[in-house]
Amino acid sequence: MKLVLLGPPGAGKGTQAHRLETCYGFRQLSTGDMLRAAVASGSELGMKVRSIMERGDLVPDRIMIDMIADRTEQSDCAGGFVLDGFPRTVPQAEALDGMLGARGMALDRVIELEVDDGALIARISGRFTCANCGTGYHDTHKPARKAGVCDVCGGTEFVRRKDDNAETVAARLRAYHKQTAPLLPYYRDRGILSTVDGMASIDAVSREIDRILGKVESGA
Ligand code: AP5
Repeated sequence: MKLVLLGPPGAGKGTQAHRLETCYGFRQLSTGDMLRAAVASGSELGMKVRSIMERGDLVPDRIMIDMIADRTEQSDCAGGFVLDGFPRTVPQAEALDGMLGARGMALDRVIELEVDDGALIARISGRFTCANCGTGYHDTHKPARKAGVCDVCGGTEFVRRKDDNAETVAARLRAYHKQTAPLLPYYRDRGILSTVDGMASIDAVSREIDRILGKVESGA
């Protein structure tokens, strides 16, 4: 299964992609995580993209396309993957179609998580992640079962993202509406777009995605 999750910052792409990897083994490919790892490592790529990400702008298409072309060829993607944060522009979508087509493959489905802009600020400002295993939490919607301790690994260090501040989130939202929203008609025209109400609870969104992917019977 080759999937794309589309949606504005804070829509729940990472939350749902992580679950799809855990439940079904589709490798989660988060371009945001890959770029943050590059920044943290101090690599040439990281130095190039750091200020772009801090402003909330999009990283140039060429960098992103090369990154995903390399990553999707690795053996851990053979059982399928879920793209979380890519494509984000029409040229990225066209390049993805081209690279998959050259390998005799195609996307199976694109799932849009539709969320009101107003809800996103609250979601993003409440988000934090286990520094050890990367499990994501939210102050209100998904707190750790025991405060200050990761449910998954027992870690006690948590991090909040540098670009999760009001000014940068506003810029990320503008970039979404201007550069990424045109992907909705692009995929609708190809007959592979499904839209999910991302304002529903995390579990309800997961159930709807499972239904779209044929993982459960309708209404189950
Ligand atoms: P990226 O890391 O992809 O950030 P984003 O798209 O802004 O998305 P987020 O990670 O903020 O949100 P999410 O949708 O994953 O939500 P989450 O599941 O965490 O990109 C960062 C930057 O990298 C970009 O700004 C850009 O500069 C660059 N970049 C990356 N890819 C690029 C590309 N292809 N081209 C160019 N540049 C690129 O959920 C958010 C919070 O809400 C969590 O706390 C979660 O617990 C909670 N939550 C989730 N679902 C629900 C729900 N249903 N109800 C209530 N709470 C919920």
